[in-house]
Amino acid sequence: MSLDARERLIVALDVPSLAEAEAMIARLGETVSFYKIGYQLAFAGGIDFARVLAGAGKQVFLDLKLHDIGNTVAKGVESVARLGATFLTVHAYPQTMHAAVDARRGSSLRILAVTVLTSYDDADLAAAGYDFTVSELVAERAGQARDVGVDGLVCSAAEAEMLRPLMGPGMVLVTPGIRPADAEKGDQKRVMTPTAAIMAGADYLVVGRPVIAAPDPKAAAEAIIAEISKAAQA
Ligand code: C5P
Repeated sequence: MSLDARERLIVALDVPSLAEAEAMIARLGETVSFYKIGYQLAFAGGIDFARVLAGAGKQVFLDLKLHDIGNTVAKGVESVARLGATFLTVHAYPQTMHAAVDARRGSSLRILAVTVLTSYDDADLAAAGYDFTVSELVAERAGQARDVGVDGLVCSAAEAEMLRPLMGPGMVLVTPGIRPADAEKGDQKRVMTPTAAIMAGADYLVVGRPVIAAPDPKAAAEAIIAEISKAAQA
């Protein structure tokens, strides 16, 4: 994929208020062109803010992880498409993915399916009643996503390595759980460095705390972009 390194970093705006989001965006300036809005900000004015950001020329990933009956998902996706967002997540259940892919037609919105959350390991899946390991369930759901015509997948970097050959070059792979070598893991159980994630076949890296909680967020973002650029040329 011939994306500029800068466009491949998606910074997660995991902050509690619009004021903090605006302050972070101002600090990051031209360094960051793609932002992810998740539950925390979405439910604090972030949906309207997505429209403003898109209008200001930034790309927006609405990480709403939708999952409901098909009709409800479709109506929600139609509304999100009107905001001008670039990516929207849904959980990788066949009915949900079908509804979302049909509803985004005619817009520039692309649907990403979340296979298995990166905070889950095999024991967490067993506790949730699944008789699959993480890698089995990821592969199963990724195959279903491809068959339905989903645009991309959210997956850990280790999964990207497994999925890239299975999915081919057309499937967009978006990878959270990124930690520069010296950063804290936090609650993420399956983490990789930016370099390893790019080498594994990820198209976009989603990075939250290693940028927004850094003493100098702009420098942290620049370091990750430099790492992406170097890895992409390797
Ligand atoms: O702070 P950190 O870099 O761990 O943030 C990762 C971001 O990616 C968070 O906003 C989290 O919700 C999101 N995410 C994830 N795993 C997924 C999907 C999204 O960590 N499978």
